Formats: sequence, C-alpha cells, structure tokens
Amino acid sequence: MSVDVTSAAGSSAAERGVPPLEVRNVTVRFGALAALADVSFTVAPGTVHAIIGPNGAGKSTLFNVLSGVYRATEGEVRFGTNVLTGMRPHRIAQLRIARAFQNIALSGSQSVVENLMLGRHHLTKAGFLSAGLRLPRATREGELHGRRVREIAEFLGLGDKLDIPVGVLSYGDQKRVEVARALCTEPDLLLLDEPVAGMNAEETRRMAAAVLEIRDALGISVVLVEHDMGMVMGIADRVTVLDFGRLIADGTPAQVQADPEVIRAYLGSGDEGAAGAAGMDGSAT
Ligand SMILES: Nc1ncnc2c1ncn2[C@@H]1O[C@H](COP(=O)(O)OP(=O)(O)O)[C@@H](O)[C@H]1O
Ligand SMILES: [Mg+2]
Repeated sequence: MSVDVTSAAGSSAAERGVPPLEVRNVTVRFGALAALADVSFTVAPGTVHAIIGPNGAGKSTLFNVLSGVYRATEGEVRFGTNVLTGMRPHRIAQLRIARAFQNIALSGSQSVVENLMLGRHHLTKAGFLSAGLRLPRATREGELHGRRVREIAEFLGLGDKLDIPVGVLSYGDQKRVEVARALCTEPDLLLLDEPVAGMNAEETRRMAAAVLEIRDALGISVVLVEHDMGMVMGIADRVTVLDFGRLIADGTPAQVQADPEVIRAYLGSGDEGAAGAAGMDGSAT
C-alpha cells in the first residue's frame, strides 16, 4: 500500500473524501440471545458519533462487528462502497478504519515511539530487509515516518514522553498512546471503545478534547462507544442509544437526553457501575 506519509495532516473530511459508515439492519445472535437486533444508523463523515447504552446493551458487540471481530448474523455494514460485513479485521484496517482497544493493547516494555511506529508498518514501502541493510530509500522513509509519529504524539500531548516505556506511564497517558497508535495508521474512521473508562476527571477532560481535535483538525470520523452518558453529551454530534440489543433512540445529544425511553433505560439499569448481568434478562425476545 502506498500512502503519502503527510497526506492526512490538516484537512477536512470532505477534502479527504471520507465516506459515511452505514449500519443496516444488523442482528447478532449468540444462541437464543440477540446481542443486536435489527440495528440501523449512519455515521456522517467527519462527525463524532456516540454509541451509548447500559451494560449488556450490545455496544461492544457492535464495535466488534464494525472492526470485523464478530460476524453479523444478518444485515450489512458499509463504508462508502465497501461492504465490511464478512471482512476480516486486517482487511477492514486497510480501508482506513482504525480501532483503539478498551483494554490497552500496547507493548509495555517498548517506548512510546516504538509502539507508535508499529502503527505505521503497513504504510512502509521499504520493508524490513532494506531497512535492515540501511539502504538510502529506507532511511529516508524511516525519517518521514518518524517525523509523522512525533507530530501525532505531540497532537495528543505525548511529545515529551516519546522515549519512555509505555508500561511506566499513567493510565491516562497509556490510553492516549493507544489512540495515537490508531491515528498512526492514518485512518478515515477511528473506533474508540470506552476511551475514558477508568480515567479520572482531568484525564477524561483531556481525552474529550483530543477526540474533538481528531474530528476538527484531522477530519476523521469517530465512533465512540461509551457507557457514561454524561461524557458523550458534550462532544458527540449524534448519539445512538442501544438497550438490550435494540436501537431505542438516534439523534442529537439534546434529543436523546429528552427521550423518555432513554431515560427509562438508564434509570432502569440502576447504578452506572452495575454489573452486566441485567443484559442477559429479557433480551432474547
Ligand atoms: N461472545 C459472546 N458470546 C455470548 N454472548 C455474548 C458474547 N458477547 C456478548 N454477549 C452477550 O451479548 C450481550 C451484549 O453484550 P455487549 O455487547 O458486551 O454489551 P455492552 O458492551 O453494551 O455492555 C450481553 O448479554 C452479553 O452477555
Ligand atoms: Mg462493552
């Protein structure tokens, strides 16, 4: 794959031709349980689109369908002209769709910059062999990638932590490295699964600001799966609400916050931190 290493900097979603993500009538069954039941919504290019819902609502299942980890039992997901449903995760990644993991999937003993360079392997033309032999082209290419990696690190406020092993960073910093690693693949669409889970208020505020920057400065669409309704209301352009696998609301933050069924779903689920066991009850209908 040949991608200009500087191509993704500072342009709008329209200029970059970022397509919409369309989820159409997606159902995922695990035995008798429908983890997702006939879910449809569209993520408009260059927007922050939140998927929220109580524990067991089907958020992670949807995320896994979008990234190719789970297969939809029925329905279709399209990214522009490409049909994602049925594709393997690495093929989906080649369509400029990147995911950051809910549980950090970084190499703790390696430095920030080493972890970020891993995000760029698929963009390198020279490959390992010529890089190992230090051929001029590989060296030049390595410099360009190194520069872009530093830019992305600085963008996420990690510019002074490049040489630190990821394992010794704070939890909030590690989560931002995870997002930076995903950005290093130069995505058009970024999938974030509960990016502020376990964060304190200050870390949450920084992550929310970073998500807005990713939309505004880079023109990337962001799908944000989040348990905490409060966090997404300030930053999402649109919110899709799931409950027991069903889509119960889809609209602006103000619209979904005022929706009686959304209020009922959140009140009915009890404590924000309640266990997901409730998701097993009654969702097979
Ligand atoms: N691999 C799986 N096998 C069986 N059931 C699953 C699997 N993944 C999720 N589920 C079930 O699907 C429902 C939705 O789960 P999930 O998507 O993890 O919800 P959320 O992320 O919104 O908390 C739950 O009832 C969960 O137990
Ligand atoms: Mg989940």
